[in-house]
Parts: sequence; structure tokens; C-alpha cells
Amino acid sequence: MTGAGGQLGRALTEAFADDEVVALGREQWDVALPPPLLEAPDLVLHAGAWTNVDGAEDDPQGAAAVNVGGTQNVASLGAPLVYYSTDYVFDGTKRTPYVESDAPNPASAYGRTKLHGEAAAGEQAWIVRSSWLFGPTGHNFVRTMLRLGAENDEVAVVDDQRGSPTYVGHLAEATRAVVELPFGVYHVAAEGDCTWADFAEAIFEHAGLETRVRRITTEELGRPAPRPAYSVLRSEKPETPVLPNWREGLRECLERLG
Ligand SMILES: NC(=O)c1ccc[n+]([C@@H]2O[C@H](COP(=O)([O-])OP(=O)(O)OC[C@H]3O[C@@H](n4cnc5c(N)ncnc54)[C@H](OP(=O)(O)O)[C@@H]3O)[C@@H](O)[C@H]2O)c1
Repeated sequence: MTGAGGQLGRALTEAFADDEVVALGREQWDVALPPPLLEAPDLVLHAGAWTNVDGAEDDPQGAAAVNVGGTQNVASLGAPLVYYSTDYVFDGTKRTPYVESDAPNPASAYGRTKLHGEAAAGEQAWIVRSSWLFGPTGHNFVRTMLRLGAENDEVAVVDDQRGSPTYVGHLAEATRAVVELPFGVYHVAAEGDCTWADFAEAIFEHAGLETRVRRITTEELGRPAPRPAYSVLRSEKPETPVLPNWREGLRECLERLG
């Protein structure tokens, strides 16, 4: 496994605890560099990536070195590989869920590198597209809101982007089922959808915080990278594992955070 220190990497380490997992963080393998001498694995879970969406606008080459070049390096191991991709490969102009046969058209540098990374994963790969990941560790929206909510009476949150916040524990469990399926692209995101503002309200409510959410637009927030206004993912393949609703993921995440 690559990216073992990330939020998904940690969840995968738990989900695959019964298997013989070699969990490599960036310190053990910077994937932008050729692979260390490893015994060829049966399966690679490639969770290492450049995930700084705004930072990729300033340094698209740096992001590509990790997300495209890094994926080529991982694929060079010659083992079947799970590549995690993103809803940000879509432009967000649809108003019904994106399925696997919809044409990608990324609006951001990050989205472009992740799409090229899909191609770099090669033929022996499961491309697992998910969205709005959160979990008990690392940088994510839930942890940011819990911090801001504890410090402020009101928090301004974007209300014109709609997606499906996905709990990394659910995605990691679903990965076990995906690797039993034929290679290909699979949309694996939580059931249900909401805006970031809705998500923030649910976080405060579940956490027992009185913090109010002030609903703002993407333009008001003024982040460097464009984000899709709508990026709900669903699968058109009947065999794709179905994840629990994002509210259930939030409940499990907050339980883990104590
Ligand atoms: N987060 C989301 O909302 C989201 C949504 C859809 C898909 N995804 C995809 O899901 C996957 C996992 O994301 P995540 O949320 O778990 O991200 P994350 O918490 O940022 O984890 C990514 C991990 O990759 C590591 N990494 C960065 N550059 C590396 C390099 N050159 N070599 C090896 N490792 C490197 C990071 O290490 P450092 O901490 O040292 O940088 C970090 O541990 C990624 O492919 C991401 O694109 C994420």
C-alpha cells in the first residue's frame, strides 16, 4: 500500500488487517521516485497522492509528478492495482449523478492530474472514484469544522457545491469487494448528497455544538481552484458495492473521535 499515513491509507490498513500488508508511507516510498526493491505484491492499494487541490493550481507539475508519474511508478510493479480517483474529474455541470460512462472534464489542475493518473494506472487496475473523503485522522472537512465550531459562534460555509461526503472506513471496506470484480472504473461514494453547508450543520448537530452555519457562495470563499458545483457519484454497474449514507459515515467517524 502507498500513502499509508493518509486518511484513506489508515482506514485501508484497518480494513485489510487480516492480510499481509506492507504499508508504505511517503517516508518509505515517495512514489514520484522509482519503486524500492520489493517482492512483487499480489495487489497494490495506491492511496498516496498529491491531494492539495488549491496547491496544485500553483504547482501543476509537482502535482502531476506525484499523481501521474507516481502512478506510473506504482504500475511498474506489475501487480493488480487499486487507484483512487475523484469526483473532481467531472466539471459539475450535470444535475443528476455522474456515472462511470459520463465523460470526464476536469476544471482544476488537481482534477486533470487525477484523470491522467487513471490512464497511468494501466490495464490491470480498478479505478475507484470517490468523493469528499473524511475520517478520524488527517486533514478533512469534519475535523476542520469541529475545530472551527469549538472556537466560533458562526462559521461561513459554501452552499453551492453538492456532493456525497464519504467515510474512509466505508470506502476501505468497499475496496475489499471491488478487488473481487473485473478491472475497470467504479464509482464508490456514500449514499445521499448534500452541500458543504448542510454537511457542516450535520457535524455541529451530531457533535452537540451550537455553532451557526452562514451559507455563502463559492465565489465569496474565493479559493484558487475551481470545484464542481455538482459532483454526486453513483454507479451504473449493478455489482458495485453500495456504501451507507453519509450521515451514517459521519456518525461512525464522530464515534471514533470520541
Ligand atoms: N480527500 C478527498 O476528498 C478525496 C476525494 C476523492 C478521492 N480522493 C483520493 O483518495 C486518495 C486518498 O486521499 P486521502 O484523502 O487519504 O488523502 P491524504 O489524507 O492527503 O493522504 C494522501 C497521502 O499521500 C501521501 N503522499 C503525498 N505525496 C506523496 C508521494 N510523493 N509519495 C508517497 N506518498 C505521498 C501523503 O503524505 P503527506 O501527508 O506526507 O503529504 C498522505 O499520507 C487520493 O488518491 C485522493 O486523490 C480523495
